[in-house]
Amino acid sequence: MVTASAPGKVYLFGEHAVVYGEPAVPCAIARRATVTVEARDDDRLRVNAEDLTLDGFTVEYSGETGTDPDVNVPDSLVEAATGYIDAAVEQARDAADAPEVGFDITIESDIPLGAGLGSSAAVAAAGIRAGARELGVDLTDAEVAERAYRAELAVQDGNASRADTFCSAAGGAVRVEGDDCRSLDAPQLPFVIGFDGGAGDTGALVAGVRSLKEGYGFAADTVAAIGDLVRRGEDALAAGDLGELGRLMDFNHGLLSALGVSSRSLDAMVWAARDAGAHGAKLTGAGGGGCIVALDPTEDTATALRYTPGCEEAFRAELDTEGVRLE
Ligand code: PMV
Repeated sequence: MVTASAPGKVYLFGEHAVVYGEPAVPCAIARRATVTVEARDDDRLRVNAEDLTLDGFTVEYSGETGTDPDVNVPDSLVEAATGYIDAAVEQARDAADAPEVGFDITIESDIPLGAGLGSSAAVAAAGIRAGARELGVDLTDAEVAERAYRAELAVQDGNASRADTFCSAAGGAVRVEGDDCRSLDAPQLPFVIGFDGGAGDTGALVAGVRSLKEGYGFAADTVAAIGDLVRRGEDALAAGDLGELGRLMDFNHGLLSALGVSSRSLDAMVWAARDAGAHGAKLTGAGGGGCIVALDPTEDTATALRYTPGCEEAFRAELDTEGVRLE
């Protein structure tokens, strides 16, 4: 039996623009998915997944891949969760050249599901690391990142950037530009996350930005401006300048808003964070709903968010320098 865990992530800067070749800086957060696997002596999968959101619910399904789980959450979330698990199992089997092996799998996660915090990438990375190890193969972080990326590609019909999976495997702050992924030196980043309980439709939001960009030169300029901002942000990160990072986060949120991917609840949480004295705040991920991230070393932002209409959960989640690891 082997257990591995991997962190979720926020975008410090650069979502959406990364789709058009601009750099982005995702950061791993101290909220992890933990996957325990044990090889079976048949080719079946049994998956027990509990607490896949902050509220906690149980997803249990047993038997072969594709068996309907019995759960009280939307099918789309369950399909997503089990899809990533199945894809991770395929990668572990492939790494060990053991295509027929079955597993008992237990998943625990304190990363809200489908909220833009990289829960699926974390489950995939931890599952691949644990599954391969259970079959006698030790994968490096880079190999886990590559295989987790392939797992996401398989589940998301070829639409996945390397950002989530590389960040979850490597930990810390990372820079992603196309296929080029690298780790960045970063100070401790006091992230506070506000979650509106919902999620945007990533495909529709990406398509919306694309059509604005194609229709208006100034929208294309906005995407390019996000790239410029990310490059400035890298300097601020290297200098450990939280004030400048916050200003750039505020600016990044404004540009994302101009591209039409914010929402009333995201804007309300961003303003609540700023009013509470955060260095800066922005939406994180695809937008349309889901999460904001703020920088605040005090408790003030988390407290303010808890009283903000539309905010369902607020929590601290510092930068996590550790990526995927065996437990
Ligand atoms: O919401 P998330 O964490 O899946 O992030 C989406 C980020 C986008 O840049 C909007 C899309 C992408 O694939 O990079």
